[in-house]
Formats: sequence, structure tokens, C-alpha cells
Amino acid sequence: LERKDITRNQILQEICELLYDSISYYDWVGYYFADHSTDLLHLGPFIGEPTEHTVIPFGKGICGQVALSNETFVVDDVTAQSNYIACSLTVKSEIVVPIFVQGINIGQIDIDSHTLNAFTNEDKSFLEALNKEVAKLY
Ligand code: SME
Repeated sequence: LERKDITRNQILQEICELLYDSISYYDWVGYYFADHSTDLLHLGPFIGEPTEHTVIPFGKGICGQVALSNETFVVDDVTAQSNYIACSLTVKSEIVVPIFVQGINIGQIDIDSHTLNAFTNEDKSFLEALNKEVAKLY
């Protein structure tokens, strides 16, 4: 890793911790980054229960679908989704918001909640704005 990469991951880790600590219904917060040469997402900084899903193929689960759709995906009730990867049985709802750098979908922030219907349009707008700031690190 170059010095620049270490700093960026530390910033992303701090963002995860800040969101997790300050918003009560954010119960897992993490970043996945896209490798466009293999069509795989790789888990980056996160906070919450460790997950087995550190690598997710494009198209699989909510995260994999966002890698292809380039659109924020709000899931009010994860049990209603057929293309969903369960990380924990306590998760009830989820939001995945893509990060764009020069128009390329380079990854996403993924947030799980133990509350049904946890994520509103306010969360969507806030996280999209946050991702625009994160994109400036690239
Ligand atoms: N639920 C996600 C997988 C990642 S875990 O939530 C950390 C999905 O369906 O893509």
C-alpha cells in the first residue's frame, strides 16, 4: 500500500464508525469496492459483525445488483428480496449507495439495519451527498 491508500482507508474506517455510533438504526456499515477486470466487489473498511461475504460477484445480492444498476437500492424488508445475500439473520432492511468517480461506479456504501423500513429518502440523500465527498478522495 502507498501512504495515500493507508490514509484513505483510515478515513473510510472513521466514516463507518461515525455513522454507526451516531445513527441508532445503522447496525452494520461498510464499503465494497469494484474490480472491473474481474466483475467482483471486495469488502473494504466496515464496522459491525464480521461477514463471510468479503467478495461478491457483480449481479449477486443487493450489493452486486447496485454494481450493475448504478442506482441506490433501498430494501425495506430483506425477506421480500429473492436476490439477497444474508450476512446476519438479525438484519431486516438495507441501503446500498454507489460511489462515482468520473462517472465510473467504483464501489458503494452498504448499511444494514435491525429495524424494518429503516431507511428514508433522507438517508438516501444524505448518503449520496456523503459519497460525493468520499469520491473526492480518489
Ligand atoms: N446483504 C448484502 C451483502 C452484504 S452484507 O449485508 C454485509 C447483499 O445482499 O448484497
